[in-house]
Amino acid sequence: MDRIAITGGARLMGEIPISGAKNSAIKLMAASLLTDEPLRLTNMPRLADTRLLARLLRRLGTEVVELDGEDGPETVLHTREIVSALAPYDLVRQMRASFNVLGPLIARTGHAKVSLPGGCTIGARPVDLHLEALRALGASIDLHEGYVYAQAPRGLTGAEIAFPFVSVGATEHAMLAAVLAKGTSVLSNAACEPELGDLADCLNAMGAKVSGAGTSTIVIEGVERLHGATHSVIADRIETGTYALAAAMAGGQVRLTNTRCDFVEALLVKMEEAGVEVERHDDGMTIRRNGARLKAVEVETDPYPGFATDLQAQFMALMTLADGESVITETIFENRFMHAPELSRLGAEIAVHGGEARVRGVEVLEGAQVMATDLRASVGLVIAALAANGETMVSRVYHLDRGFERLEEKLSACGANVRRIIGDGEPED
Ligand code: EPZ
Repeated sequence: MDRIAITGGARLMGEIPISGAKNSAIKLMAASLLTDEPLRLTNMPRLADTRLLARLLRRLGTEVVELDGEDGPETVLHTREIVSALAPYDLVRQMRASFNVLGPLIARTGHAKVSLPGGCTIGARPVDLHLEALRALGASIDLHEGYVYAQAPRGLTGAEIAFPFVSVGATEHAMLAAVLAKGTSVLSNAACEPELGDLADCLNAMGAKVSGAGTSTIVIEGVERLHGATHSVIADRIETGTYALAAAMAGGQVRLTNTRCDFVEALLVKMEEAGVEVERHDDGMTIRRNGARLKAVEVETDPYPGFATDLQAQFMALMTLADGESVITETIFENRFMHAPELSRLGAEIAVHGGEARVRGVEVLEGAQVMATDLRASVGLVIAALAANGETMVSRVYHLDRGFERLEEKLSACGANVRRIIGDGEPED
């Protein structure tokens, strides 16, 4: 397996273009199942997760073509007919978001068999809210041998769905199913993440009638059919925040382009509080740090527009060298501190108690061998390594490849000393 070697100490100077959002792209790809006409997605990220979903969609009957368009990577998805409504375990377990093909399959064909995704390193991550939403829309749902068997032979019917707590995936899933239901659906306590707005914009371009996405109440008037469309994927706010934190950790001056400040405002405020200089632009931001030691600040993860859980590991990396003690509270996932012991291998001082991590800033980090445990944790290790003395070797970088496009290239272009060591294909342990 591949590894990434980072020699710390180089300041970052330059520009990093931000890619399209992984967590939007994979839901938009699933939306292509809702129409027999082509859906053209532009500003597409090229990632292990988008490739994996393309594999699943091809099995279901979608023709998936990747192109280099005038404005960058595009994917055209065309599902003339659903040839199979089965999403097997071997694909769904590799990427939980594949589960979101269930709603579109029921909406388009009236039946589906989709594997339950199973557990995950960052928490239990059940799908009960997804299933309740689909039941409310009139699907009959049975669970056997690890699979969801869903039926709605006469189609889905609009419903009022009040989520007991905010779930990004369940809100998206309900939206994907309700667009073709008979009548009106109202989703309350809906997730407000920008990816919801992106999905609604794409569905509306396909002929759906979705309003209120981006607020906690989303209203969907079902339509009989959807048609093809062209849609540009929004900027990846987690990639944006990650490179902002990388620049802050390494020091220097980096301009992030093709993105939006409002997507990461909760992070930028915390970075400024810690002493990082942030200049906001229409198409992104410039991050500057002159070398003075940062101050420890406290953060708590929350649903959007709060501080994103997907930036928690990277922020923890920044705090390892800050002056004072930072308290980091994780409220979204119950087991999302697996990067803490790996950061400790670099010399960080972190004590974890339940959902709270106390990071006491140290003067120096030292390079070491570390292991990626999940996608965002792995990039947190890369960020720490940028400021560590000597070389850090990050293994299990397949986690990183799920969600960061050309990471070594983007960081190296700004002067970081980051290289990929291609593995021999053998598992590491
Ligand atoms: C999405 O996951 C993202 N994934 C996650 O990013 C992100 O961390 C998360 O939203 C929160 O922002 C994708 O978009 C593919 P949730 P999702 O449903 O939709 C519980 C990354 O690294 N829950 O909002 O799965 C759940 O266990 C990933 O890119 C239930 O109990 O998150 C969690 O504690 C990691 N029952 C909380 O809700 C359900 O049916 C919020 O999860 C659904 C969720």
